[in-house]
Amino acid sequence: TGYITLDDGYGNTGSCKSKITYIDGDAGVLRYRGIPIEELAEKSTFIESAYLVIFGKLPTVEERDRFAGLLMENAMIDEGMKKHFEAFPPSTHPMAITSAMVNLISGYEPEDMIINSEQEFEEAAAKLMSKVRTIAAASYKASIGEPIVYPRYDLRYAENFLHMMFTKPYKAYEPTPAVSRALNLFLLLHADHEQNCSTSTVRMVASSQANIFASCSAGVNALWGPRHGGANQAVIEMLEQIRDSDMDVKEYVRKVKNKEDGIKLMGFGHRVYRNFDPRSKILRKAADEMFDELEMTDPLLDIAQELADVALSDDYFVERKLYPNVDFYSGMILRAMGIPLNMFTVMFAIGRMPGWIANWKEINDDPKGRIYRPRQVYVGPTDQHWVLREER
Ligand code: CMC
Repeated sequence: TGYITLDDGYGNTGSCKSKITYIDGDAGVLRYRGIPIEELAEKSTFIESAYLVIFGKLPTVEERDRFAGLLMENAMIDEGMKKHFEAFPPSTHPMAITSAMVNLISGYEPEDMIINSEQEFEEAAAKLMSKVRTIAAASYKASIGEPIVYPRYDLRYAENFLHMMFTKPYKAYEPTPAVSRALNLFLLLHADHEQNCSTSTVRMVASSQANIFASCSAGVNALWGPRHGGANQAVIEMLEQIRDSDMDVKEYVRKVKNKEDGIKLMGFGHRVYRNFDPRSKILRKAADEMFDELEMTDPLLDIAQELADVALSDDYFVERKLYPNVDFYSGMILRAMGIPLNMFTVMFAIGRMPGWIANWKEINDDPKGRIYRPRQVYVGPTDQHWVLREER
């Protein structure tokens, strides 16, 4: 089999050719299907950008209406699925519930496990995008012991999610335009990000010809960890820890630099961005605007700004090219919306679904596609022999 090149953590290995998302890490450029993220953030919505990511083009009015109709039709989950929520122990993390339930869609919609046409793909994509949002809200309701709220057919994607999350048995919930706008922006900025850990996991699973639900459920699991999507929760926990301890920001940064207890500055650093993360710039501005508009303050936002200022002027971070990433400010926005902390990574999963779906499709459309099967460099013992148990 010859010589194997080791590339630790795939830092410089192109695992596939893709037409979906472009990143230039040195210049801080991110484009979905060629369109700059800044332009989409200003002019588009989550659903329109999701369509762009999944189908490769901005939808016409007719295409948009059809896709919106499919999202609407598929917003409900099967009544049978509802029973599963009751069976999870109350302490179950919503990410575990989300990945299990996304996988389980295949049990209730078995016909979608085999996709033979563009139309069937569009239906499965809409199903996943719509149902993951209902599943996410239901997992939260189950965790607080409240009845699941049904989707409404007169609400748009983001508003419908907020309705299912925050409607109480005794009180309807009406999101303000600022909150709906912020959620749309949050989801849009997460829609895809090239071969990150969860997306390459989806591709890996898809390369074995696993169905779309199984593949995307694997993406949810890969996203859960604090080095990836779990960072948005970890950022808030870090800020709370600073707030609640005697430590000031400088002291915390000193500990990070000395690698004490292996702590990292959560929400900082990125494998690809070595200059800045364009999503973080957009979110910092959006967070400021949202707080102004809602006339809110949050001491954690002040700590976050101070932490960013201290780190950005410190040699340790400058030399290593560590900048705030998407997770650094996104948590502030989610907090202001009233999203509970253990749901933060689930919000990321809802946002990333278009990217996972698009990558699943790209693999399946490639007639020459091979199963993903990396090699390893074996460093274990050789020339060993079996030994009698009493002689070991
Ligand atoms: N705080 C302190 N030091 C850091 C950090 C950080 N956040 N990130 C990297 N470093 C140091 C690291 O210790 C190493 O230093 P040294 O050369 O002295 O050993 C150097 O910078 C290079 O880091 P690396 O570990 O080789 O970088 P990586 O590309 O393997 O890891 C990362 C990228 C995002 C996992 C990492 O920066 C990290 O753990 N950041 C904190 C978690 C986080 O915010 N994750 C979200 C990433 S963006 C959205 C997403 O993917 O979900």
